[in-house]
Amino acid sequence: LTVRASSYADELVKTAKAIASPGRGILAMDESNATCGKRLASIGLENTEANRQAYRTLLVSAPGLGQYISGAILFEETLYQTTIDGKKMVDVLVEQNIVPGIKVDKGLVPLAGSNNESWCQGLDGLAPRSAAYYQQGARFAKWRTVVSIPNGPTELAVKEAAWGLARYAAISQDNGLVPIVEPEILLDGDHGIDRTFEVAKKVWAEVFFYLAQNNVMFEGILLKPSMVTPGAECKDRATPQQVADYTLSLLRQRIPPAVPGIMFLSGGQSEVEATLNLNAMNQAPNPWHVSFSYARALQNTCLKKWGGRPENVKDAQEVLLIRAKANSLAQLGKYTG
Ligand code: 13P
Repeated sequence: LTVRASSYADELVKTAKAIASPGRGILAMDESNATCGKRLASIGLENTEANRQAYRTLLVSAPGLGQYISGAILFEETLYQTTIDGKKMVDVLVEQNIVPGIKVDKGLVPLAGSNNESWCQGLDGLAPRSAAYYQQGARFAKWRTVVSIPNGPTELAVKEAAWGLARYAAISQDNGLVPIVEPEILLDGDHGIDRTFEVAKKVWAEVFFYLAQNNVMFEGILLKPSMVTPGAECKDRATPQQVADYTLSLLRQRIPPAVPGIMFLSGGQSEVEATLNLNAMNQAPNPWHVSFSYARALQNTCLKKWGGRPENVKDAQEVLLIRAKANSLAQLGKYTG
């Protein structure tokens, strides 16, 4: 029995390598309309398409962003949207040497039969949607599912998360999109770092089991893990060195070196914390490109600085570039604060 490989195999490897390039990482700007609404509300703006467009225009057109950012994950609306000056958002990214990506999952819903856990929807119709996204200029995809430590995680929740990610990854590769595999282990809880480590090992073992079973080509995927940290409500805090030690130990035990890039999520860490932790992980050579795919840890200050005012766009872009550069340096292990 031979299994057909994706006809996009060479292109997938090239795309993944381009995203996992030295000193660069991903800008996650794929907040769903609901999440984007929360961000806009925090600066007193209404959640209108015009406001989302104005904000995303600011992000994609920050001058020189491509020096630090190799890929940008978009929500579907943005993939088909123009900037406020009428250029396609996708074209602006490509001109900046940034690969456009697309969030393809349809969000989380309650997982029946579990301990109040969730599962991620979006497999139905994913193949034709992925083909259409490729036509529109996307070259990579993201599927975010979550695992909760305080609620378990149950065997069922872990298996469902891993299986969904693997099916999505195979479908993405079939349609020319490099899949970002993201089983986020939520920070919520008062558990210590050892418990997070144990859960992460279980989750990644299962994810790679099903990725292999679904004949996913490891050279053409990217991972988006959570860093191994104590729960957000745990009294014992961890230093960047401890986070790096635990996280690298997890990666070495679970992730084959064929995988080109590990692009961490920030998951509620502060901007500086996310940078320091990444920097600590890059103090010695790793088998994979160890980098970032941050949303909040790249955008928080930028969003505040903008505040919805056209006259603040330049300053807000400068703030975005400062965070992007800091994380670029951290990817190289050269961030000094
Ligand atoms: P944060 O970096 O804000 O956790 O978001 C990354 C992301 O895209 C989560 O899916």
